[in-house]
Amino acid sequence: MNQRNYLIRTAAILILAMVSTSMLAKNTVKSLVAEYLVNPIGIDVKEPRLSWQITSDGSNVLQSAYEIRVADSPQALASKNKLIWSSGKVESNQSVNVIYGGPALKSMQRVYWQVRIWDNNNKVSKWSEPAFWEMGILEPESWEASWITMEDEKSVTSLPCHYYRNEFSTSKKVKSARVYVTSHGLYQLFLNGKKVSDDLFTPGWTTYNKRLQYQTYDVTSQIGSENAIGAILSDGWYRGKIGWDYQNGYYGDQLALLLQLEINYTDGTSETFTTGDEWKVATGPILSSSIYDGETYDARLEIEGWSATGFDDGKWQNAEVTNQPKDILVAPQGVPVKATQEIKPIEIITTLKGELVFDMGQNMVGWVRMKVQGKKGDQVVLKFAEVLDKEGNFYTDNLRSAECTDTYILKGVGEEVFEPHFTFHGFRYVKLEGFPGIPELEDITGVVIHSDMDRTGTFTCSDPLINQLQQNIQWGQRGNFLDVPTDCPQRDERLGWTGDAQVFSMTAAYNFDVAAFYTKWMKDVAADQLPNGKVPHVIPDVLRGDGGSTAWADVTIIVPWTVYKIYGDKRILDEQYASMKAWVEYMKSDAGDDYLWTEGSHFGDWLAYATINSDYPGATTEKDLIATAYYYNSTKLLGKIAGIIGNKEDAEKYDSLSSKIKKAFVLEYVTPNGRLVSHTQTAYALALAFDLLPENLKGKAAEYFANDVKKFGHLTTGFVGTPLLCNTLSAIGRDDLAFMLLNRKEYPSWLYPVTKGATTIWERWDGQKPDGTFQDVGMNSFNHYAYGAIGEWLYGHVAGINVDVENPGYKHILFSPHVGGGLTNANAEFMSMYGEVKSSWKIEGQEFVYEIVIPANTTATVTLPEAKVEQVTINSSALNENVDDLKEQGNAVVLNLGSGSYQFRYPADKLK
Ligand code: BGC
Repeated sequence: MNQRNYLIRTAAILILAMVSTSMLAKNTVKSLVAEYLVNPIGIDVKEPRLSWQITSDGSNVLQSAYEIRVADSPQALASKNKLIWSSGKVESNQSVNVIYGGPALKSMQRVYWQVRIWDNNNKVSKWSEPAFWEMGILEPESWEASWITMEDEKSVTSLPCHYYRNEFSTSKKVKSARVYVTSHGLYQLFLNGKKVSDDLFTPGWTTYNKRLQYQTYDVTSQIGSENAIGAILSDGWYRGKIGWDYQNGYYGDQLALLLQLEINYTDGTSETFTTGDEWKVATGPILSSSIYDGETYDARLEIEGWSATGFDDGKWQNAEVTNQPKDILVAPQGVPVKATQEIKPIEIITTLKGELVFDMGQNMVGWVRMKVQGKKGDQVVLKFAEVLDKEGNFYTDNLRSAECTDTYILKGVGEEVFEPHFTFHGFRYVKLEGFPGIPELEDITGVVIHSDMDRTGTFTCSDPLINQLQQNIQWGQRGNFLDVPTDCPQRDERLGWTGDAQVFSMTAAYNFDVAAFYTKWMKDVAADQLPNGKVPHVIPDVLRGDGGSTAWADVTIIVPWTVYKIYGDKRILDEQYASMKAWVEYMKSDAGDDYLWTEGSHFGDWLAYATINSDYPGATTEKDLIATAYYYNSTKLLGKIAGIIGNKEDAEKYDSLSSKIKKAFVLEYVTPNGRLVSHTQTAYALALAFDLLPENLKGKAAEYFANDVKKFGHLTTGFVGTPLLCNTLSAIGRDDLAFMLLNRKEYPSWLYPVTKGATTIWERWDGQKPDGTFQDVGMNSFNHYAYGAIGEWLYGHVAGINVDVENPGYKHILFSPHVGGGLTNANAEFMSMYGEVKSSWKIEGQEFVYEIVIPANTTATVTLPEAKVEQVTINSSALNENVDDLKEQGNAVVLNLGSGSYQFRYPADKLK
């Protein structure tokens, strides 16, 4: 819908609202966020974007104006002359990502803000509760601290972790205290014997040589008169093994710590404590810690009280000051990794081989906490596996060279509790070796970790297998959104594979709030991009610049586009624009004058259905067809994006380039009869979904596509085709085939792994074959989210919640549920930036019952399938007597509504 139509419709809704809204609607402004975060501290976005939600007991509520005020304290917000900034009353319906327009904020400055709104009846709300944000360190000169390190010998294996400490005293009353901290390697920070934060894997993983995050923690309440600070440093991604060559020290061979503590006293003075050469350092009980290999902890070497005051560090070495860069420090924009859930094992198994194995009942990512009692020097070895083999034995061949082993050496003092510090595993089964005594279920607890994104979506339906599939998709996302979107969490890989990330991004954005997560990661995509525009295969790039594959490198455009669609975020388009353009220009120069991209090395339709039977061949889609299709799609999107950010010249340029690519594509890959040279599901899905075909060939291509699905009776797609498959079948009117693919339980299908007991999404359609044997050990992850991209179709098509790209961020919502596949109900809830969106249908006897929730300050177009206006009721009254803006379109009724909760009912006889 174009902007004009939207305005007309909004006006119509406003008129309707006059009629139906209670003039006394009570609106409350809540859920204030800055840069997508609740009360963030230590941000460095100079003009943060502010968003709020409106809840209302009325319907058809729109915001007609807002007013924001910002002050130094919550109290000062009410005094006009104490405000730092007031937006004044702004006539606008914008309640998402409103840019702070006040004076420039200083390093470390905290400001409070609140907002009130006027609705479409010109009724003003109360001021919201205050929220705040706080700036981090904005200029490199403000970093007074020195990097410190401890020299350790060069090694290709993980070395003992470093323990740093220092003490300081204060003599005045503390008003506020902040610690700013980062490291080369991973750190855990302690103050007066206690951990400062439950954030994990800090400082996170970025393109370390160009962007290194520091964290900010509020430690006001932890500061006493005598204080001790301690930090443990481990190899992590910085110095540990990472990447294909199983390389050590990709980013550097020296661990280092940088810390600055700023204390403001109530008398107006302040003090700064920093890392420097007076700090002490030693090694301790963590003998080695590696992301791939696991951790070895010798409890006999524990250093009692090392991070508290009064500890005698006389035998510790002095830390050395090291000259590492400070001008690449950035505040985090994403969300921290945290432990979000604990899981109890469901069974202890003794395998045929006699192994002692705990079954956690869920393929999860994190580690286990173990309780153990034994003699000093007893050693318990914990190994981790995703699956048991055909005979029920512990199976780790698919972990390749990753050792995934934690070793705990007991100190022998009653009950001891161990959990690792700087490693994670992807596993369902835990094997214990050397456990003293007989372990019980309570001795092991699974600790689930991931980037702590808010869960925004749920999808359920009447089929328990599909519900399990949805669970598996969400678990796959949790396990693989660990500061960067990774391919898998268990083998010697765990890398930010760009192709996997882009195909899954829409599904990801239904399940969890990924706005901040992707904003951070996309900065690394741009940072690691090569000068010629090539995008590395993995981000952060630890494969030394290898890149430029079609459908992988296009992440540069597709993920920001997803963030724009789902969160209405224009800034990410602006900020990533140069990177997007560089990628399209790279394809353009590689493709050359014929506009066909036949060069380069590509992964193609990775892991597509394959056989060696000559009479029942698999499906291979030519790589240059895929490459040219993606070249077109990205160029077209770039043109659109250029238009959105106001770059008219580029909008025209890339639009015209995309037309040329389309022409070339048709000439080269499509017969005059609409058959594609690669006669595969993936090729047709690409051509139809990307709109690559001339009008007169679309029907014929759709027929070929449908016939291929019918002929096989199953999907044949890989990473590239799978996310488009059901969406495209539905778009050509073949819901029957899309549901057939969804419902299929034999290999290859989404439900086949579910019938095999999968609790996450598998990398391959036949990770475990029907006879119980496994796919090739070289590549067989049981936790790879890419095929989980079907989630987008479940939410968007089956349940029917969709964004309107012309009014992004769910400002205008498209509800369009689809009944099929024998389902008798489907329900989705989605927490949008405006509030909760709900779409839930069921067949109840002879009736179709459909319920939706449209949040305040949004509008929606609802398409009721197989309906006749006069048979539909809305909230128990005749539809046509209550809604003006409606029409019959084909077999559907289409209507426009404002915010509120609605229930529709009508005869279900045509819905199957
Ligand atoms: C990864 C993938 C990735 C692929 C490239 C694999 O090793 O696990 O998911 O996209 O390589 O084709």
